[in-house]
Amino acid sequence: MKDIGLYIHIPFCKRKCYYCDFVSFSNSEEKIEEYIDCLICEIKEVAENVKFQFQQKKGDLVNVRSIYIGGGTPSYIDSKYIKQILNTIRNSYDFVMAGLTDKQEQFPEITIEINPGTVTEEKLLDYKNSGVNRISIGMQATQDRLLTQLDRIHSYQEFEMTYHLTRKVGFENINIDFMFGLPNQTLDDVKESLQKIKILNPEHVSVYSLIVEDGTTLSKQIEEGIMKLPNERLERTMYWTIKNFLEENGYKHYEISNFAMPNKESRHNLDCWNQKEYFGFGVAAHSYVDNVRFSNITDLNSYIENYKNNEPEKNFVFHEKENYLDMMKEYLLLGFRKIKGVSKRDFENKFQLPIESIFKLELEELKRKDLILENEDFYYLSDKGIDLANLVFEKFV
Ligand SMILES: C[S@@+](CC[C@H](N)C(=O)[O-])C[C@H]1O[C@@H](n2cnc3c(N)ncnc32)[C@H](O)[C@@H]1O
Ligand code: SF4
Repeated sequence: MKDIGLYIHIPFCKRKCYYCDFVSFSNSEEKIEEYIDCLICEIKEVAENVKFQFQQKKGDLVNVRSIYIGGGTPSYIDSKYIKQILNTIRNSYDFVMAGLTDKQEQFPEITIEINPGTVTEEKLLDYKNSGVNRISIGMQATQDRLLTQLDRIHSYQEFEMTYHLTRKVGFENINIDFMFGLPNQTLDDVKESLQKIKILNPEHVSVYSLIVEDGTTLSKQIEEGIMKLPNERLERTMYWTIKNFLEENGYKHYEISNFAMPNKESRHNLDCWNQKEYFGFGVAAHSYVDNVRFSNITDLNSYIENYKNNEPEKNFVFHEKENYLDMMKEYLLLGFRKIKGVSKRDFENKFQLPIESIFKLELEELKRKDLILENEDFYYLSDKGIDLANLVFEKFV
């Protein structure tokens, strides 16, 4: 049995938020139908290839542990397309969980990202009936002045309505995306947002420090002095305020940016950080299979054209084939994102070598600089290391 994750990219948004450089397009509604047709073809083709190869090689079945429908704004498109995508996956892959006793574990985790202002009760019901069991809602902030400043399409009240509707429809696993370090965001704004999150009581909270991406409207606003970022000290104070508050309120901090109620960690994300394999479908989607990292091209029109011309191979972009050392380094790079850290035993089981036999110098140096700590089973980020995580990651690039 071969465990994999699937990622589906829906690159459409009603409007482009000022800070966003994800591969997503507004004013491209006329391409949605064609795009979904291509996506369905890709899912089927890959499934056929994968099944054939695995069965030939190992007499193995493919088991989908998680499906993540992200974007863009997957909830912007008609829910019939989401049904179609999930039905195609269901008909193409095996949904069997072998040897797992926990009932919850027997089904793949199926997440969809939704945006306030783009969902109705009918859409949510369609998701539920198609097997979606986890919803991720982009809240970003709870102050309308900040949402307006980011050019989000919704108010905080609309977010709350979407959240309550999602609960009403029966979803029991909801994530909220929350951003901090925003221009004009104060520590009091962050504290107010935390109080609101506490009342809503989502199972999972993703907390993102704003990254100013080149070429975005926000980056121009900052260059022109129209917007000013909070200083680094305030940004870090926000982070620790959020971390302490969420931990005091029952959330486990399990990854630098992620907090979950017990047993509600995102399986899809954890599998990525544990260097498990996944296939990405759609424009710009990344994959990691048989130690090879590859993706699709980022241009929407070309992605569609290549399918129309029966040349889907032109959508393929090779990134790297990892050798053994690359894999080990990447295992640490990803593993240190987890608050629990990198397990010595898991490393040795996976690579048949003690972690210290390869990385003794790096680990000693990071310990000496107080960036990581060590206990009997794990190497993990110290508090200082959480703030300066890039210094840790760069040792394993
Ligand atoms: C794939 S994105 C989009 C999800 C959804 N379309 C939305 O906007 O709510 C997932 C999350 O990444 C975060 N994000 C996007 N751009 C970011 C940036 N420049 N800096 C930090 N976080 C960002 C936002 O919190 C967003 O909800
Ligand atoms: S809605 Fe989400 S994906 Fe679309 S532009 Fe805004 S942040 Fe980016």
